[in-house]
Amino acid sequence: MDKISSIRGMPDVFESDTNYLAELNEVLSKIFLSHNLNEVNTPILEQTELFVRSTGVTSDIVNKEIYSFNDRNEQSLSLRPEGTAGVVRSIVQKKLDNAEHKLWYQGPMFRYERPQKGRFRQFNQAGVELLGFEEGSSDLEIISIVCDIFIELELEDAVLRINHLGDKDTKEKFLSELLRYLKSYKGNLNENDKEKLNKNPLRLLDSKDVDLKEFLDKGPKIIDFLSPEQLNLLDKIQSIFGKYVEIELDSSLVRGLDYYTGLVFEAVSSNLGAQDSFLGGGRYDDLSKDLGGKEMPAIGFAIGLERLNLIKKHKNIKSNKVISFVTTSSKMNALAFKIAQLLRSHNYDIRLETNFTDASLKAKLRKASKLGAKFVFIMGEEEFESDTITVKSFDEDGYQVNMSFDEILDFYKDI
Ligand code: HAM
Repeated sequence: MDKISSIRGMPDVFESDTNYLAELNEVLSKIFLSHNLNEVNTPILEQTELFVRSTGVTSDIVNKEIYSFNDRNEQSLSLRPEGTAGVVRSIVQKKLDNAEHKLWYQGPMFRYERPQKGRFRQFNQAGVELLGFEEGSSDLEIISIVCDIFIELELEDAVLRINHLGDKDTKEKFLSELLRYLKSYKGNLNENDKEKLNKNPLRLLDSKDVDLKEFLDKGPKIIDFLSPEQLNLLDKIQSIFGKYVEIELDSSLVRGLDYYTGLVFEAVSSNLGAQDSFLGGGRYDDLSKDLGGKEMPAIGFAIGLERLNLIKKHKNIKSNKVISFVTTSSKMNALAFKIAQLLRSHNYDIRLETNFTDASLKAKLRKASKLGAKFVFIMGEEEFESDTITVKSFDEDGYQVNMSFDEILDFYKDI
Protein backbone atom coordinates (compact mmCIF):
# COMPACT_ATOMS: atom_id res chain seq x y z
CA MET A 1 0.00 0.00 0.00
CA ASP A 2 1.21 3.57 -0.73
CA LYS A 3 2.55 5.48 2.25
CA ILE A 4 0.92 8.78 3.21
CA SER A 5 3.24 11.73 3.71
CA SER A 6 2.75 15.00 5.53
CA ILE A 7 1.78 18.19 3.68
CA ARG A 8 4.69 20.19 2.23
CA GLY A 9 5.82 22.92 4.63
CA MET A 10 4.05 21.29 7.57
CA PRO A 11 6.78 19.19 9.17
CA ASP A 12 6.35 16.85 12.11
CA VAL A 13 8.22 18.19 15.11
CA PHE A 14 10.20 15.68 17.08
CA GLU A 15 12.44 15.18 20.08
CA SER A 16 15.01 17.95 20.50
CA ASP A 17 12.89 20.43 18.51
CA THR A 18 9.79 19.84 20.64
CA ASN A 19 11.95 20.27 23.73
CA TYR A 20 13.42 23.50 22.43
CA LEU A 21 9.97 24.83 21.54
CA ALA A 22 8.60 23.92 24.98
CA GLU A 23 11.59 25.62 26.61
CA LEU A 24 11.11 28.78 24.53
CA ASN A 25 7.42 28.84 25.36
CA GLU A 26 8.23 28.57 29.03
CA VAL A 27 10.70 31.47 28.96
CA LEU A 28 8.32 33.64 26.90
CA SER A 29 5.30 32.94 29.11
CA LYS A 30 7.36 33.90 32.19
CA ILE A 31 8.31 37.21 30.54
CA PHE A 32 4.68 37.87 29.53
CA LEU A 33 3.44 37.10 33.04
CA SER A 34 6.05 39.44 34.54
CA HIS A 35 4.48 42.22 32.42
CA ASN A 36 1.05 41.36 33.85
CA LEU A 37 -0.30 40.07 30.53
CA ASN A 38 -3.19 37.58 30.44
CA GLU A 39 -3.21 34.60 28.12
CA VAL A 40 -5.94 34.40 25.46
CA ASN A 41 -6.84 31.54 23.13
CA THR A 42 -8.80 32.17 19.96
CA PRO A 43 -9.82 29.53 17.39
CA ILE A 44 -7.53 28.39 14.59
CA LEU A 45 -10.43 28.67 12.09
CA GLU A 46 -12.13 32.01 11.46
CA GLN A 47 -14.42 33.47 8.79
CA THR A 48 -12.31 34.41 5.75
CA GLU A 49 -13.85 37.90 5.85
CA LEU A 50 -11.96 38.57 9.11
CA PHE A 51 -8.58 38.35 7.41
CA VAL A 52 -9.73 40.22 4.28
CA ARG A 53 -10.82 43.14 6.47
CA SER A 54 -7.81 43.09 8.80
CA THR A 55 -4.56 42.00 7.16
CA GLY A 56 -5.99 43.63 4.03
CA VAL A 57 -6.57 43.03 0.36
CA THR A 58 -3.08 44.18 -0.65
CA SER A 59 -1.26 41.92 1.77
CA ASP A 60 0.44 38.81 0.39
CA ILE A 61 -1.29 36.93 3.17
CA VAL A 62 -4.79 37.49 1.80
CA ASN A 63 -3.78 37.48 -1.86
CA LYS A 64 -1.65 34.38 -2.04
CA GLU A 65 -1.08 32.71 1.28
CA ILE A 66 -4.37 32.10 2.98
CA TYR A 67 -5.71 28.56 3.41
CA SER A 68 -9.44 28.97 2.71
CA PHE A 69 -12.22 26.50 2.06
CA ASN A 70 -16.00 26.36 2.13
CA ASP A 71 -17.50 24.32 4.95
CA ARG A 72 -20.58 22.10 4.50
CA ASN A 73 -22.73 25.21 4.83
CA GLU A 74 -20.91 26.97 1.96
CA GLN A 75 -19.41 29.45 4.44
CA SER A 76 -15.86 30.55 3.55
CA LEU A 77 -13.51 29.75 6.44
CA SER A 78 -9.74 30.23 6.74
CA LEU A 79 -6.96 28.82 8.84
CA ARG A 80 -5.58 31.81 10.73
CA PRO A 81 -2.42 33.23 9.12
CA GLU A 82 -1.72 35.35 12.22
CA GLY A 83 -3.16 36.01 15.67
CA THR A 84 -3.96 39.74 15.91
CA ALA A 85 -7.17 39.70 13.86
CA GLY A 86 -8.71 36.89 15.92
CA VAL A 87 -7.86 38.59 19.22
CA VAL A 88 -9.44 41.91 18.14
CA ARG A 89 -12.48 40.09 16.68
CA SER A 90 -12.94 38.36 20.00
CA ILE A 91 -12.71 41.57 22.08
CA VAL A 92 -15.17 43.35 19.75
CA GLN A 93 -17.56 40.38 19.78
CA LYS A 94 -17.55 40.28 23.60
CA LYS A 95 -18.19 44.07 23.66
CA LEU A 96 -14.99 44.55 25.65
CA ASP A 97 -13.67 47.13 23.17
CA ASN A 98 -14.27 49.98 25.62
CA ALA A 99 -11.63 48.79 28.11
CA GLU A 100 -7.89 48.14 28.23
CA HIS A 101 -6.54 44.64 27.73
CA LYS A 102 -3.00 43.31 27.92
CA LEU A 103 -2.98 39.92 26.28
CA TRP A 104 -0.64 37.25 25.00
CA TYR A 105 -1.20 34.09 22.97
CA GLN A 106 0.68 31.21 21.50
CA GLY A 107 -0.25 28.73 18.81
CA PRO A 108 -0.04 27.50 15.22
CA MET A 109 -0.53 29.84 12.23
CA PHE A 110 -0.86 28.86 8.55
CA ARG A 111 0.44 30.54 5.39
CA TYR A 112 0.76 29.06 1.91
CA GLU A 113 4.34 30.29 1.36
CA ARG A 114 7.17 28.61 -0.52
CA PRO A 115 8.84 26.47 2.16
CA GLN A 116 12.51 27.09 2.87
CA LYS A 117 14.81 27.38 5.91
CA GLY A 118 12.78 29.11 8.63
CA ARG A 119 9.67 29.38 6.45
CA PHE A 120 6.85 26.89 6.87
CA ARG A 121 3.21 26.57 5.95
CA GLN A 122 2.35 25.71 9.54
CA PHE A 123 4.41 27.52 12.16
CA ASN A 124 4.03 28.73 15.73
CA GLN A 125 3.82 32.29 16.95
CA ALA A 126 3.79 33.78 20.43
CA GLY A 127 2.19 37.21 20.34
CA VAL A 128 1.38 40.16 22.59
CA GLU A 129 -1.44 42.68 22.09
CA LEU A 130 -1.98 45.79 24.23
CA LEU A 131 -5.53 46.88 23.38
CA GLY A 132 -7.17 50.19 24.32
CA PHE A 133 -3.87 52.09 24.71
CA GLU A 134 -3.08 55.27 22.80
CA GLU A 135 0.31 56.04 21.32
CA GLY A 136 2.85 56.86 24.01
CA SER A 137 3.80 54.79 27.02
CA SER A 138 2.21 51.62 25.55
CA ASP A 139 4.64 51.84 22.61
CA LEU A 140 7.51 51.99 25.12
CA GLU A 141 6.02 49.13 27.11
CA ILE A 142 5.74 46.92 24.02
CA ILE A 143 9.40 47.62 23.15
CA SER A 144 10.38 46.85 26.75
CA ILE A 145 8.76 43.39 26.38
CA VAL A 146 10.70 42.85 23.15
CA CYS A 147 13.88 43.94 24.98
CA ASP A 148 13.24 41.48 27.80
CA ILE A 149 13.00 38.70 25.22
CA PHE A 150 16.32 39.79 23.66
CA ILE A 151 18.01 39.90 27.06
CA GLU A 152 16.48 36.75 28.56
CA LEU A 153 17.24 34.67 25.45
CA GLU A 154 20.64 36.31 24.98
CA LEU A 155 19.92 37.34 21.37
CA GLU A 156 23.08 39.43 21.12
CA ASP A 157 23.29 39.38 17.32
CA ALA A 158 19.69 40.49 16.83
CA VAL A 159 18.83 43.99 15.61
CA LEU A 160 15.52 45.78 16.14
CA ARG A 161 14.47 47.93 13.18
CA ILE A 162 11.91 50.62 13.86
CA ASN A 163 9.90 53.09 11.79
CA HIS A 164 6.82 55.26 12.17
CA LEU A 165 4.09 55.27 9.53
CA GLY A 166 2.62 58.55 10.78
CA ASP A 167 -1.06 59.34 11.26
CA LYS A 168 -3.66 59.89 8.49
CA ASP A 169 -2.40 63.41 7.85
CA THR A 170 1.28 62.50 7.61
CA LYS A 171 0.48 59.49 5.48
CA GLU A 172 -1.56 61.57 3.00
CA LYS A 173 1.20 64.16 2.60
CA PHE A 174 3.87 61.51 2.24
CA LEU A 175 1.85 59.47 -0.25
CA SER A 176 1.18 62.42 -2.52
CA GLU A 177 4.95 63.12 -2.57
CA LEU A 178 5.71 59.47 -3.17
CA LEU A 179 3.22 59.23 -6.05
CA ARG A 180 4.63 62.39 -7.61
CA TYR A 181 8.14 60.96 -7.35
CA LEU A 182 7.00 57.63 -8.84
CA LYS A 183 5.84 59.37 -12.01
CA SER A 184 9.51 59.78 -12.97
CA TYR A 185 10.16 56.02 -12.61
CA LYS A 186 11.36 54.68 -15.96
CA GLY A 187 11.10 50.97 -15.20
CA ASN A 188 8.02 48.76 -15.42
CA LEU A 189 6.06 47.84 -12.32
CA ASN A 190 5.43 44.12 -11.94
CA GLU A 191 1.82 42.94 -11.38
CA ASN A 192 2.29 42.75 -7.63
CA ASP A 193 3.61 46.30 -7.36
CA LYS A 194 0.92 47.60 -9.74
CA GLU A 195 -1.68 46.21 -7.34
CA LYS A 196 0.06 47.87 -4.39
CA LEU A 197 0.12 51.16 -6.27
CA ASN A 198 -3.65 50.95 -6.76
CA LYS A 199 -4.64 49.75 -3.33
CA ASN A 200 -1.96 50.75 -0.79
CA PRO A 201 1.03 52.61 -2.32
CA LEU A 202 2.86 52.71 1.03
CA ARG A 203 3.49 48.99 0.64
CA LEU A 204 5.55 49.74 -2.49
CA LEU A 205 8.39 50.60 -0.09
CA ASP A 206 8.40 46.89 0.67
CA SER A 207 8.81 45.94 -3.02
CA LYS A 208 11.02 42.97 -3.91
CA ASP A 209 11.91 44.58 -7.27
CA VAL A 210 15.60 45.61 -7.01
CA ASP A 211 15.37 48.50 -9.52
CA LEU A 212 12.25 49.95 -7.95
CA LYS A 213 13.76 49.57 -4.49
CA GLU A 214 16.89 51.44 -5.55
CA PHE A 215 14.75 54.17 -7.08
CA LEU A 216 12.58 54.49 -3.97
CA ASP A 217 15.65 54.58 -1.71
CA LYS A 218 16.52 57.91 -3.34
CA GLY A 219 12.95 59.22 -3.04
CA PRO A 220 10.94 60.90 -0.27
CA LYS A 221 11.29 59.44 3.24
CA ILE A 222 8.37 59.16 5.62
CA ILE A 223 10.59 60.30 8.48
CA ASP A 224 10.70 63.78 6.93
CA PHE A 225 6.91 64.02 7.21
CA LEU A 226 6.52 62.92 10.85
CA SER A 227 5.25 65.26 13.56
CA PRO A 228 7.59 66.29 16.43
CA GLU A 229 5.67 63.92 18.77
CA GLN A 230 6.15 60.98 16.40
CA LEU A 231 9.86 61.75 15.98
CA ASN A 232 10.12 62.11 19.74
CA LEU A 233 8.68 58.59 20.20
CA LEU A 234 11.34 57.12 17.89
CA ASP A 235 14.04 59.06 19.78
CA LYS A 236 12.77 57.88 23.15
CA ILE A 237 12.76 54.25 22.04
CA GLN A 238 16.36 54.58 20.92
CA SER A 239 17.56 56.42 24.00
CA ILE A 240 15.77 54.19 26.57
CA PHE A 241 16.31 50.79 24.98
CA GLY A 242 19.38 51.35 22.78
CA LYS A 243 21.52 50.44 25.82
CA TYR A 244 20.13 46.93 25.86
CA VAL A 245 19.51 46.08 22.20
CA GLU A 246 20.80 47.32 18.88
CA ILE A 247 18.11 49.56 17.39
CA GLU A 248 18.14 50.86 13.79
CA LEU A 249 15.87 53.45 12.27
CA ASP A 250 14.67 52.06 8.91
CA SER A 251 12.39 54.39 6.97
CA SER A 252 11.62 51.74 4.35
CA LEU A 253 10.08 49.42 6.95
CA VAL A 254 6.33 49.21 6.26
CA ARG A 255 5.49 45.58 7.21
CA GLY A 256 3.42 43.19 5.13
CA LEU A 257 0.02 43.67 6.75
CA ASP A 258 -2.37 46.50 5.93
CA TYR A 259 -3.58 47.25 9.45
CA TYR A 260 -0.50 49.10 10.75
CA THR A 261 -0.82 52.78 11.58
CA GLY A 262 1.97 54.29 13.75
CA LEU A 263 5.10 52.67 15.13
CA VAL A 264 6.22 49.53 13.28
CA PHE A 265 9.17 47.31 14.09
CA GLU A 266 10.87 44.08 13.10
CA ALA A 267 13.69 42.09 14.70
CA VAL A 268 16.26 40.39 12.49
CA SER A 269 19.11 38.02 13.22
CA SER A 270 22.17 37.33 11.09
CA ASN A 271 21.89 33.64 12.05
CA LEU A 272 18.73 33.11 10.03
CA GLY A 273 19.71 33.45 6.36
CA ALA A 274 17.14 34.78 3.85
CA GLN A 275 14.22 34.66 6.30
CA ASP A 276 16.05 36.83 8.80
CA SER A 277 13.08 38.45 10.52
CA PHE A 278 11.94 36.57 13.63
CA LEU A 279 9.71 39.14 15.30
CA GLY A 280 7.39 41.79 13.91
CA GLY A 281 4.77 44.18 15.14
CA GLY A 282 3.40 47.66 15.38
CA ARG A 283 0.44 49.89 16.15
CA TYR A 284 -2.96 49.21 14.57
CA ASP A 285 -5.31 51.91 15.86
CA ASP A 286 -8.05 51.39 13.23
CA LEU A 287 -8.43 47.61 13.32
CA SER A 288 -11.19 47.54 15.94
CA LYS A 289 -13.31 49.97 13.88
CA ASP A 290 -12.56 48.04 10.69
CA LEU A 291 -13.97 44.97 12.42
CA GLY A 292 -17.15 46.76 13.48
CA GLY A 293 -15.96 47.68 16.97
CA LYS A 294 -15.41 50.92 18.85
CA GLU A 295 -12.35 53.11 18.54
CA MET A 296 -9.67 51.03 20.32
CA PRO A 297 -6.06 52.07 19.74
CA ALA A 298 -3.70 49.12 20.05
CA ILE A 299 -0.18 47.87 19.57
CA GLY A 300 1.37 44.42 19.52
CA PHE A 301 3.91 42.02 18.08
CA ALA A 302 4.43 38.34 17.33
CA ILE A 303 7.51 36.21 17.41
CA GLY A 304 8.04 33.12 15.22
CA LEU A 305 9.01 30.24 17.47
CA GLU A 306 10.65 28.11 14.75
CA ARG A 307 12.88 31.05 13.75
CA LEU A 308 13.71 31.73 17.39
CA ASN A 309 14.47 28.04 17.74
CA LEU A 310 16.92 28.29 14.81
CA ILE A 311 18.74 31.20 16.48
CA LYS A 312 18.87 29.50 19.86
CA LYS A 313 20.01 26.19 18.39
CA HIS A 314 22.86 28.08 16.88
CA LYS A 315 23.79 29.03 20.41
CA ASN A 316 23.55 25.41 21.52
CA ILE A 317 21.23 25.93 24.45
CA LYS A 318 21.38 23.01 26.89
CA SER A 319 18.19 21.11 27.52
CA ASN A 320 17.23 19.42 30.79
CA LYS A 321 19.50 16.76 32.26
CA VAL A 322 18.72 13.11 31.66
CA ILE A 323 19.11 10.42 34.29
CA SER A 324 18.59 6.73 33.65
CA PHE A 325 17.25 4.54 36.47
CA VAL A 326 17.88 0.79 35.96
CA THR A 327 17.12 -2.42 37.84
CA THR A 328 18.82 -5.78 37.38
CA SER A 329 15.82 -8.02 38.06
CA SER A 330 12.05 -7.73 37.67
CA LYS A 331 11.45 -8.47 41.38
CA MET A 332 12.72 -4.93 42.14
CA ASN A 333 10.40 -3.17 39.75
CA ALA A 334 7.47 -2.46 42.12
CA LEU A 335 9.81 -0.67 44.54
CA ALA A 336 11.75 0.99 41.70
CA PHE A 337 8.58 2.47 40.17
CA LYS A 338 7.63 3.93 43.56
CA ILE A 339 11.07 5.47 44.01
CA ALA A 340 11.05 6.87 40.47
CA GLN A 341 7.70 8.55 41.15
CA LEU A 342 9.04 10.05 44.37
CA LEU A 343 12.20 11.26 42.64
CA ARG A 344 10.25 12.99 39.87
CA SER A 345 8.08 14.82 42.38
CA HIS A 346 11.28 16.24 43.93
CA ASN A 347 12.58 17.80 40.71
CA TYR A 348 10.47 18.13 37.58
CA ASP A 349 13.38 19.64 35.65
CA ILE A 350 15.14 16.28 35.36
CA ARG A 351 14.21 13.85 32.61
CA LEU A 352 14.17 10.56 34.49
CA GLU A 353 14.23 7.61 32.12
CA THR A 354 13.38 4.24 33.70
CA ASN A 355 14.75 1.07 32.19
CA PHE A 356 13.25 -1.85 34.13
CA THR A 357 13.32 -4.34 31.23
CA ASP A 358 14.98 -7.78 31.24
CA ALA A 359 18.02 -6.53 29.28
CA SER A 360 21.48 -6.94 30.81
CA LEU A 361 23.00 -4.22 33.00
CA LYS A 362 25.68 -3.73 30.36
CA ALA A 363 23.04 -3.10 27.66
CA LYS A 364 21.18 -0.73 29.97
CA LEU A 365 24.34 1.29 30.66
CA ARG A 366 25.06 1.46 26.94
CA LYS A 367 21.54 2.73 26.27
CA ALA A 368 21.84 5.32 29.07
CA SER A 369 25.06 6.62 27.56
CA LYS A 370 23.39 6.85 24.14
CA LEU A 371 20.59 8.90 25.68
CA GLY A 372 23.17 11.36 26.95
CA ALA A 373 22.43 10.54 30.63
CA LYS A 374 24.43 12.46 33.22
CA PHE A 375 23.94 9.75 35.86
CA VAL A 376 22.65 6.19 36.05
CA PHE A 377 20.85 5.08 39.19
CA ILE A 378 21.34 1.33 39.66
CA MET A 379 19.22 -0.93 41.83
CA GLY A 380 20.87 -4.38 41.83
CA GLU A 381 20.55 -7.32 44.28
CA GLU A 382 22.80 -5.72 46.92
CA GLU A 383 21.11 -2.36 46.74
CA PHE A 384 17.67 -4.01 46.92
CA GLU A 385 18.65 -5.89 50.12
CA SER A 386 20.17 -2.79 51.75
CA ASP A 387 17.55 -0.18 50.69
CA THR A 388 20.11 1.79 48.73
CA ILE A 389 20.80 2.89 45.16
CA THR A 390 24.14 3.19 43.39
CA VAL A 391 24.74 6.43 41.54
CA LYS A 392 27.14 6.16 38.62
CA SER A 393 28.32 9.39 37.04
CA PHE A 394 28.80 9.53 33.27
CA ASP A 395 31.00 12.62 33.56
CA GLU A 396 34.75 12.36 32.92
CA ASP A 397 35.44 11.68 36.63
CA GLY A 398 33.09 8.64 36.39
CA TYR A 399 32.57 8.29 40.16
CA GLN A 400 30.21 5.76 41.71
CA VAL A 401 28.54 6.11 45.17
CA ASN A 402 26.04 4.13 47.13
CA MET A 403 23.22 6.19 48.70
CA SER A 404 20.29 5.55 51.03
CA PHE A 405 16.83 6.45 49.67
CA ASP A 406 16.81 9.69 51.72
CA GLU A 407 20.25 10.64 50.45
CA ILE A 408 19.30 10.04 46.85
CA LEU A 409 16.18 12.23 47.20
CA ASP A 410 18.35 15.10 48.52
CA PHE A 411 20.88 14.49 45.75
CA TYR A 412 18.15 14.49 43.08
CA LYS A 413 16.61 17.74 44.37
CA ASP A 414 19.90 19.59 43.84
CA ILE A 415 21.02 18.22 40.48
P1 HAM B 1 4.37 38.83 10.91
O1 HAM B 1 5.57 39.68 10.73
O2 HAM B 1 3.59 38.47 9.70
O3 HAM B 1 3.45 39.59 11.95
O4 HAM B 1 4.79 37.50 11.63
C1 HAM B 1 5.50 37.53 12.85
C2 HAM B 1 6.57 36.47 12.86
O5 HAM B 1 6.02 35.19 12.54
C3 HAM B 1 7.67 36.66 11.83
O6 HAM B 1 8.63 37.58 12.28
C4 HAM B 1 8.24 35.26 11.72
O7 HAM B 1 9.14 34.99 12.79
C5 HAM B 1 7.01 34.39 11.92
N1 HAM B 1 6.54 33.89 10.62
C6 HAM B 1 5.77 34.51 9.72
N2 HAM B 1 5.56 33.73 8.64
C7 HAM B 1 6.23 32.58 8.86
C8 HAM B 1 6.42 31.36 8.13
N3 HAM B 1 5.83 31.15 6.96
N4 HAM B 1 7.20 30.38 8.68
C9 HAM B 1 7.79 30.56 9.87
N5 HAM B 1 7.65 31.68 10.62
C10 HAM B 1 6.87 32.67 10.14
C11 HAM B 1 2.25 39.14 12.39
O8 HAM B 1 1.85 38.01 12.24
C12 HAM B 1 1.47 40.14 13.21
N6 HAM B 1 0.21 39.51 13.65
C13 HAM B 1 2.29 40.62 14.38
C14 HAM B 1 1.55 41.62 15.23
C15 HAM B 1 0.94 41.40 16.39
N7 HAM B 1 1.39 42.89 14.92
C16 HAM B 1 0.67 43.47 15.87
N8 HAM B 1 0.37 42.56 16.78
